[in-house]
Amino acid sequence: MRHHRQFPPRATAFVQQIGQGVLVVSHVPRQTNDDRLVFFHAGEDSTFRAMHTTPDFPTLRVVDHPLVQHKLTLLRDRATPTKIFKELVDEIATLMAYEATADLALEPAVVETPLETTTGQRVMGKKLTLVPILRAGLGMVEGICRLVPSARVGHVGLYRDHDTLKPVDYYFKVPSDATERDFFLLDPMLATGGSAVAAVASLKQAGAARVRFLCLVAAPEGVRRLAASHPDVLVFCASLDRQLNEHGYILPGLGDAGDRLFGTK
Ligand code: PRP
Ligand code: URA
Repeated sequence: MRHHRQFPPRATAFVQQIGQGVLVVSHVPRQTNDDRLVFFHAGEDSTFRAMHTTPDFPTLRVVDHPLVQHKLTLLRDRATPTKIFKELVDEIATLMAYEATADLALEPAVVETPLETTTGQRVMGKKLTLVPILRAGLGMVEGICRLVPSARVGHVGLYRDHDTLKPVDYYFKVPSDATERDFFLLDPMLATGGSAVAAVASLKQAGAARVRFLCLVAAPEGVRRLAASHPDVLVFCASLDRQLNEHGYILPGLGDAGDRLFGTK
């Protein structure tokens, strides 16, 4: 990761207002390593490593790290038992959080080493808030908390009606000072997008202004629907899969994430 305080020379830019921030996608001819996504966060600017993006899905970031892809393949395998499935979801969540936090704004912090006083950096602002969508999102919480132990954890209770595929909500609790926080909404599956759209709407109603959605597998239908309702919400996934089937399941997918995680089928 390289910090970019100045716009690269000879760069062309696509600039998009997202909530309070500005997303600048810059392109530098003949220097593909200098293609950068620059996210200005509450007045601070930083860059994150260019990752797989596609013009058809401007809000989507696919985390194509080899370890993530390897573990995702094990997760998809129908023969993977519940215990291993749970461990894999946990590990992939950690790796995805590493990418999704790469542009958190920093501030100087004075620290005394055993030898002298120096100035380091620390993450700026209120503690990050993780919000798993029940049930399956719970499987991603610990893996992220391992990286960000001070994170607060809210909960959104939603299930998808089997016949209508519409989300039914039954629980909502987040920290009261939501306006000042960065939120990571967690759910392994983004299928029709109904649950994600409803969960983001609830967070915004509670005052949240900065929300990112972290999932493992996304369907094109869900990414489009979430972007249409909440264009300010970036989606991080391990895979953009092919399509939904007639029952709203992702293909090739990994099946019912909640059932596989908790062994309920
Ligand atoms: C699954 C999944 C998402 C939702 C995605 O949950 O964990 O929350 O479906 O589907 P959508 O994008 O079409 O809304 P489910 O409704 O099965 O609830 P559960 O985790 O309680 O089993
Ligand atoms: N929810 C899941 O758990 N899996 C899918 O494929 C779609 C929705």
